[in-house]
Amino acid sequence: MHPSLRGQNVPPSPIRKLVPFAEDAKKRGVVVHHLNIGQPDVPTPEVFFERVSSYREKVLAYGHSAGLAPLRQGMADYYRKLGFAVADDDVTVTTGGSEAILFAMMAICDPGDEIVCFEPFYTNYNSFAVQAGVTLRPVTCAPEDGYHLPSRERIEAVIGPRTKGIIICSPNNPTGTVLRRDEMQTLVDVAIARELYLVSDEAYREFVYGEIPHTSVLAFPELGSRALLLDSLSKRYSVCGARVGCVVSSDPALQRVFLHLGQARLCSPSLEQHGALGLLSIEGAYFGEMQAEYRRRRDAVMRGLAAIPGAKARTPEGAFYVMAQLPVADSGHFCEWLLREFQHEGETVMLAPGDGFYATPGLGRDEVRIAYVLEVDRLERAMRCLHEGLARYARR
Ligand SMILES: Cc1ncc(COP(=O)(O)O)c(C=O)c1O
Repeated sequence: MHPSLRGQNVPPSPIRKLVPFAEDAKKRGVVVHHLNIGQPDVPTPEVFFERVSSYREKVLAYGHSAGLAPLRQGMADYYRKLGFAVADDDVTVTTGGSEAILFAMMAICDPGDEIVCFEPFYTNYNSFAVQAGVTLRPVTCAPEDGYHLPSRERIEAVIGPRTKGIIICSPNNPTGTVLRRDEMQTLVDVAIARELYLVSDEAYREFVYGEIPHTSVLAFPELGSRALLLDSLSKRYSVCGARVGCVVSSDPALQRVFLHLGQARLCSPSLEQHGALGLLSIEGAYFGEMQAEYRRRRDAVMRGLAAIPGAKARTPEGAFYVMAQLPVADSGHFCEWLLREFQHEGETVMLAPGDGFYATPGLGRDEVRIAYVLEVDRLERAMRCLHEGLARYARR
């Protein structure tokens, strides 16, 4: 007996595959600074826990497969307040943004169909594409261009007869790049001209630091039913464990597919959706403070990188990640070595090797993704570990 090829083809996550080495390091008493995973340390708003603990139904029952009606309405209100024409029925609640990615791929592609993506990209697009039988067609973005989009010609060159959509993520995980309005317009024009869906993962919409404002796929009404928005409450309200996200589309045919996919998994977690209802009234100051804090963190990491000989990184415009080029030939080996063999004053740092964010073999081997999700003083300590680690790695 052996597992299916499809199952075996689901790649390990570069974000989590070094976890056993981190656990061993901790057992040896080494403090590990986790810059490998986008788990914010910002406290979850109290209102979420208040709503969960005041839940008084006798039975924690299944909910509607499309999500709790007031939550769908609350999410639609959130987009309407941002100025977009979204009806309550345009929103299907998903079990995290993760399920929104899978639903989108399943809904727009048959097995063997293709989706254009821009590498480096959020690594789990790969995993969900394998599950859905979809082939990702990567277009490579270069560090020298700040990972902004290449020319329209380069994008159109990978579109073939089986291409059904283009998936984008802005602000981007793993690069922090925020697509300018003219880049979004190019994608919109290509989607319309080539009859494709434009699937926009906006999990980091509120995490922008002033250089480039965020442009949503919803800002282009000419896309009509070609626009597909994937969203998540995980990062926006620091509720990663609640598993609440959504997929937004004005196309009733797509919504019917989402409903049927949702019916297969019955419902998203009822209690967490109930808690999430309280989050949607949060606005203004909360996001302003969060942005200011993450800007400080970003700047601390960039200062740390600037001090490291041979390290290169561009300042990210959003999200809470930076892709850094390091003076190493194999960042996977270096990241493992940091956990297995290195410590500086009892501490080390955990990073995500860059190659797992690319579909093209061989790319990203001198890159790491750094998630700046810790307080500034811890980030500064982590960057000192990285600095010292690179020096010792070169001498070893
Ligand atoms: C770009 C992007 N999309 C989607 C997700 C999935 O988020 P969740 O399933 O927690 O909502 C993540 C999580 O890190 C992400 O970085």
